Amino acid sequence: MMMSGFAENDEWHGTLKELEKVHQEILKCQRCPLYKYITNKVPGEGDPTSGIMFIGEAPGREEDKQGRPFVGPAGKLLTKMIEEKLGIQRSKVYITNVLKCRPPNNRDPKPEEIEACSIWLKKQLEIIKPRVVVTLGRYSTEWIFKYFGLKFTKISEVRGKVYTVKKWDHVTYIIPTYHPAAVLYHPQWKEAFERDFELIKKVIEGKEKKPKTLVDFF
Ligand code: URA
Repeated sequence: MMMSGFAENDEWHGTLKELEKVHQEILKCQRCPLYKYITNKVPGEGDPTSGIMFIGEAPGREEDKQGRPFVGPAGKLLTKMIEEKLGIQRSKVYITNVLKCRPPNNRDPKPEEIEACSIWLKKQLEIIKPRVVVTLGRYSTEWIFKYFGLKFTKISEVRGKVYTVKKWDHVTYIIPTYHPAAVLYHPQWKEAFERDFELIKKVIEGKEKKPKTLVDFF
């Protein structure tokens, strides 16, 4: 697992240990039957000290093979967007999914699988206390909206907007966008997807009309 800033940042030391512990617990999880069909669990990876989290739906074939999130075709697009549009190295943000196991044949997650797996995403959020959460697609957006008490309608309606919540000792910005796999499947959504990343960049740089700059957190 990549976690830069570990040695240099004392404040985060315990937090990173806690997160690593959660990753280890995920590797042993048998809370739903999906563990029986997978090659690898995919807990998440990246640098939580940036305060920026990207949340997808569930691992696909390549993610299952490697035990890492977003490393297949959708992952290549996501990585390109993070690096080219946001100007941040992928390893500097934290990336995870609602489900930590791949559903067979990439079928949609079942409500009972989401329910069983939610404990892990909740723990990750409570440890990281992110400043910016980018939700990728319907499943993670619906999950995050429910978690923060926001009203979810449909992804095409809520995407491209910034939602602010105050759950911890700071404001957290939630920015839903399309799932990169959906963008690959519907190239006509690419333009909106790119605009959403321009918005994400503005929020990160404190240029969106929001009360607090986030630029200090890099
Ligand atoms: N799709 C997801 O939602 N997550 C991944 O990690 C890969 C593809």
